[in-house]
Amino acid sequence: MKALILVGGYGTRLRPLTITQPKPLVQFANKPMMLHQMVALAKVGVTTLVLAVSYRADDLEREISGYAENLGMKIHFSLEEEPLGTAGPLALARKNKFLDGDEPFFVLNSDVICDFPFRQMIEFHHKHGGEGTIAVTEVSEPSKYGVVVFDDETGSIRAFVEKPQEYVSNKINAGLYFFNPAILNRIPLKPTSIEKEVFPNMASEKKLFAYVLPGFWMDVGQPKDFLIGTTLFLKHKRETASDELASGEYIQGDVLIDETATIGANCKIGPNVVIGSNVKVEDGVCLRECTILTGSVVKTHSWINKSIIGRKCSIGRWVRIENNSVLGEDVVVNDELYLNGAQVLPHKAISVNVSQPDIIM
Ligand code: GDD
Ligand code: MG
Repeated sequence: MKALILVGGYGTRLRPLTITQPKPLVQFANKPMMLHQMVALAKVGVTTLVLAVSYRADDLEREISGYAENLGMKIHFSLEEEPLGTAGPLALARKNKFLDGDEPFFVLNSDVICDFPFRQMIEFHHKHGGEGTIAVTEVSEPSKYGVVVFDDETGSIRAFVEKPQEYVSNKINAGLYFFNPAILNRIPLKPTSIEKEVFPNMASEKKLFAYVLPGFWMDVGQPKDFLIGTTLFLKHKRETASDELASGEYIQGDVLIDETATIGANCKIGPNVVIGSNVKVEDGVCLRECTILTGSVVKTHSWINKSIIGRKCSIGRWVRIENNSVLGEDVVVNDELYLNGAQVLPHKAISVNVSQPDIIM
């Protein structure tokens, strides 16, 4: 079976993490974002993966090729000369002969995280016999997404409205699709939006069906949602594989700690914390609702809440970081500082407080 992942643009909404790393390689719950998807695709028998990219990134190609090899997947990079949107890349992949054959294939947005029930999507697709299946989920703020109106019993989609101005429904497109190759006949080789130009037509022809995702889902392409997604992911881990979560006197709630990380004495870690590989947390540190990426150090008695610390950062002693702060790679924060909603670009040294949300360049 084949799958195409829409890797697309520069991941600007996840800056400053994506300044030094392509978005699909940014670690979510200690694994490159896209590796979660690749592992789940491999499990249901996907052996050919097409990565639709609109810019060239050697590190992306190198790292993803390595993962693909380990998963026994063949990988094709389908490079766009100009960004082709969310449908155009399918036409390009067809032209490049990456989607040949008459089997249905998966198409995924690269920034969504869930339990990836691909097996169930395949079964549902064969049962309804339409041309496409899209996974849908329920959210409280549907206007940021593609909204779907469908028949509860059959799943048949009546209407698809991308980012509606007015309330339509709270069921939204989760960014995971399973299509018959026939969909390729609908897509021209030019910038085209699958949500605005393809789905509405398929819906009016009653060829598009909604598979309601059981369980959690999140688009983790923005810092705030990244942290919410982490909480949902960890809760799901608690329910399905709790032995992978950390335990101990100093742990509160759901916490994931890489085995190469070290934690000092008298720390308070959790809930909803992810600590990456080779991270060093010194004595008396308190971490809540945050992700500390690979190779960073948090020195004694610092306190971090609702924030993301990029790779190889150094957080001084008695530092307080909160309110969706995001530190890019290799940022140094001096002792005793306060960071409130700071977005800090890579390789910066911070020596004064950031008391109001701000971008530090
Ligand atoms: N190759 C390629 N070329 N990929 C692209 C391009 C492009 O020109 N533009 C966007 N993409 C990729 C993005 O990298 C992402 O993986 C996916 O297409 C969707 O783009 P986003 O920019 O993340 O869209 P969104 O989050 O605003 O909305 C989409 O996702 C929602 C679910 O998270 C839509 O599909 C909505 O309908 C959906 O609800
Ligand atoms: Mg998105």
